[in-house]
Amino acid sequence: MTNADKYRLLSDAAPDELENLSKRVNASPWRQHYHVQPPIGLLNDPNGFGYFNGQYHLFYQWHPFGPVHGMKYWYHVTSTDLVHWEDMGIGIEPGDEYDSHGAYSGSALAEDGKLYLFYTGNTRDKDWMRHPYQCLAVMDQDGNITKQETPIIDAPPPGYTAHFRDPKVWKAADRFYAVLGAQRLNKTGCVLIYKSDDMHTWSFMGELKTSFADFGYMWECPDYFELGEKGVLLFCPQGLLAEKDRFENIHQAGYLMGEPINPENPHFQHGNFMELDRGFDFYAAQTTLSPDGKRILIGWMGLPDTNYPTDMHGWAHCLTLPRELSIKDGILLQRPVKEVELLRKEKYTASHTVHNTKIQLAEINGSSYELFCELCMDGAAKAGISFRTGDTEETLLYYDAVSKYVVLDRTRSGAAMKNDNGSIRRYALDARKITLRLFVDQSSVEIFINDGEAVMTARIFPENDSDGVAFFTEGGNAKFDAVQWLYQ
Ligand code: FRU
Repeated sequence: MTNADKYRLLSDAAPDELENLSKRVNASPWRQHYHVQPPIGLLNDPNGFGYFNGQYHLFYQWHPFGPVHGMKYWYHVTSTDLVHWEDMGIGIEPGDEYDSHGAYSGSALAEDGKLYLFYTGNTRDKDWMRHPYQCLAVMDQDGNITKQETPIIDAPPPGYTAHFRDPKVWKAADRFYAVLGAQRLNKTGCVLIYKSDDMHTWSFMGELKTSFADFGYMWECPDYFELGEKGVLLFCPQGLLAEKDRFENIHQAGYLMGEPINPENPHFQHGNFMELDRGFDFYAAQTTLSPDGKRILIGWMGLPDTNYPTDMHGWAHCLTLPRELSIKDGILLQRPVKEVELLRKEKYTASHTVHNTKIQLAEINGSSYELFCELCMDGAAKAGISFRTGDTEETLLYYDAVSKYVVLDRTRSGAAMKNDNGSIRRYALDARKITLRLFVDQSSVEIFINDGEAVMTARIFPENDSDGVAFFTEGGNAKFDAVQWLYQ
């Protein structure tokens, strides 16, 4: 697609273009059953996640015309339980002076009976140079969204490039603060902080100072919040090199945890950068608070600059399940929100002690389910689960007791990803007993290890009838106790 094609508005669609695309998308064998996915075209970051007027509002970056990044809309869905989402159509339409080339990512804040939506207006001039504007749109109680005509921040501050976007706004002590992803003139990434008394006039306070002078060339999609006694900064650094079992995806999504910041003088004392997800497809996570004070995170189950097998069907990507965050012993735990249990249908169980073999389960199979398994190593060198298994396909999740890694292997999962980032991900763990909670959908799996100590997320693209589940061990025994709930 040429830039002229990619940066069209929906009103520029050719006759039948959208209907034809829709037919192709609906015929795709990899449409998800219980994840938020685009009706056609490409979904990327979750945006504007918030609770307002009795329900959750969630938006996502959406390009309608196919599985490519081009003109971005905010697409709107709502929910009362975080798992059943209602399609509300387009939330923010780009194409005006300050968002001529897309309504890029941002956040929501409920205040004074309105939902304030902050986003980056992407524009390109005739030489295709970027000029980002930070913009505001306001949703009223009836769900009408009105864009403010002029930006609230009209240029990056001196010292930073045009890679300046993704405002995440919060309120503290009657003031409003925003973090934004930015790039210093020396091409290193950082987060900038702004403040406001009224959400309309914003002043630049400086960088949110971390210990990273040179950690990737751009930081996208920051989010700052407090959880328990801690301050947590999420962001997506681009351009880190892989090291051992870390940073193996093309770009990273992770967090720093430390002392809560004083936003008036924002120096952040923090620990190491930790990846939020140890799998393959995870980026641009955003959080909000539930009405009862839980911190909920949703991510994009995809990555920038990566092609996926659904591209040939005219669509790409979905969002992750919402995860509830908590901190235990200094570790950020992520658990699927309790409401996922609303998706449970028939229940099946399987308990087996497996000795140097692979047993195909008669009692458990499917392509859309939750599977909880307690794995107890009893001499085995390797033990795990093969799922979405068919004649020539399987996805493997196992514990390697020799190298002490939980391993997710999608080498034979089905249609392959065309990239150089490998088909195995590992999470270091030294344990005899491990709990694994898998959420399998038509073309994805999310794996919560040891009740949220780590998560591994992957898109997988198997044949529809690759729906088997097997337990296997090598070099000794292991015991498996599993419960499955079908989700369809
Ligand atoms: C992250 C990102 C954001 C930007 C948006 C555009 O995936 O590049 O930085 O606002 O996507 O769709």
